[in-house]
Amino acid sequence: MTNAKSTVRAGIVGSGFAARFHLEALRKVYGVTVEIAGVYSPTAAHCEAFAGRHGLTAFTGLSALIDQSDIVHVCTPPSTHERIGVEVLGRDKYVVIEKPFTGYFGDGDKRFSGDLFDRKTGLDRAKASIGNLLDAEAKSAGLICYAENWVYAPGIQKEKEILEKSGAQIIWMHGEEAHSGSHSPFYGIWAHSGGGSIMGKAVHPLGAVLYLKQVEGMAAQGRPIRPATVSARVHAVTRSKQFKDLGYIKTGYTDIEDFGAMHIVFEDGMLADVFASELVLGGVHNWIEITANNHRTIVNINPNDSMKSYNPKGSQFDDIYVVEKIETKEGWANISPDEDWYTGYQNEIQDFCRCAATGAMPQCNSTLAADTILTVYAAYCSAAENGREMKVPSR
Ligand SMILES: NC(=O)c1ccc[n+]([C@@H]2O[C@H](COP(=O)([O-])OP(=O)(O)OC[C@H]3O[C@@H](n4cnc5c(N)ncnc54)[C@H](O)[C@@H]3O)[C@@H](O)[C@H]2O)c1
Repeated sequence: MTNAKSTVRAGIVGSGFAARFHLEALRKVYGVTVEIAGVYSPTAAHCEAFAGRHGLTAFTGLSALIDQSDIVHVCTPPSTHERIGVEVLGRDKYVVIEKPFTGYFGDGDKRFSGDLFDRKTGLDRAKASIGNLLDAEAKSAGLICYAENWVYAPGIQKEKEILEKSGAQIIWMHGEEAHSGSHSPFYGIWAHSGGGSIMGKAVHPLGAVLYLKQVEGMAAQGRPIRPATVSARVHAVTRSKQFKDLGYIKTGYTDIEDFGAMHIVFEDGMLADVFASELVLGGVHNWIEITANNHRTIVNINPNDSMKSYNPKGSQFDDIYVVEKIETKEGWANISPDEDWYTGYQNEIQDFCRCAATGAMPQCNSTLAADTILTVYAAYCSAAENGREMKVPSR
């Protein structure tokens, strides 16, 4: 810690949903003094409103924000991550990139459709985008911090300790991220999101399973155990003519899947199954189960039952936050008393600020980010052939 900075200046790009939870977590960091440099997003009115609400400086350009920051948080749509990330790294600053890391967002043609493009082209172009970010990192005095909060969820970090101290081999993991549909107007459009349920949701449990095999590999042999192959299926259920819409599940996606399943085989022959969908009622359904040769672990990120509350009349809880995306506050609810902690947001931002101060490597770094996206786009290639096993390319 001799050359450690005692103060880290953090800039935020984007003024939407993710910008808010990054800011809240930044304000709770301990051990390193964090100064919030300010916020930049392209719609001046939104940027100023966000800055005004939170007492921040609103920047009118990205470049000026980077100048005033040691670490820049990229809380913008996935299609913008590569360009902003490369610019920040080019200025020798740390960059926090929200999930999904990067991807393929079409060829710029207005007629581009996520339903129709060649998946092999998608994989090649996503790989090129990853390459651009990794090259920029290699030349930079900064580092990529990949904001996959599942890695930092307390249950996943406890499992890390179990793996390291017990010398376990993970045999099979299965996990899911699902809820009843994203309300972001851009979410259902491939050119903005780079994919559907697999890209937007499965990346979370996928990030966790890849991370845990990395941890096992580092403990056992000093190098991560990488994903070797993936088989996948995707479906557009709510766009199907046979879907009976009763109004509870969000519909209206343009050209993305709303259900995805991935089966992953690791280099050591061990397995993981990851599910994601926009089809599940009852709030966010985020869980992972780990079957090892010496123990078994179940991590419930959401819902979990650390607090349950029964409310006979929904309106009593109108101004009380209960838990993410729950459809009703009436009846029994699994209240999340500190959701940002359970979901890993707080530990994640703590690690990134500590790394920006000390130069240490974040636990969730560009290696994991790259493997996640390579697995996702290999999965799309597999799904195009109804689940044929595909090699996950090397970085
Ligand atoms: N880890 C999580 O749990 C989690 C949750 C939500 C969102 N996210 C991720 O965070 C990112 C942002 O999602 P969100 O929900 O906050 O979206 P949002 O639509 O709420 O906000 C996006 C912001 O980015 C800004 N923006 C758009 N284009 C830009 C550009 N070219 N340069 C600078 N700013 C630009 C917009 O003005 C807006 O302020 C996405 O990658 C998303 O997947 C992660």
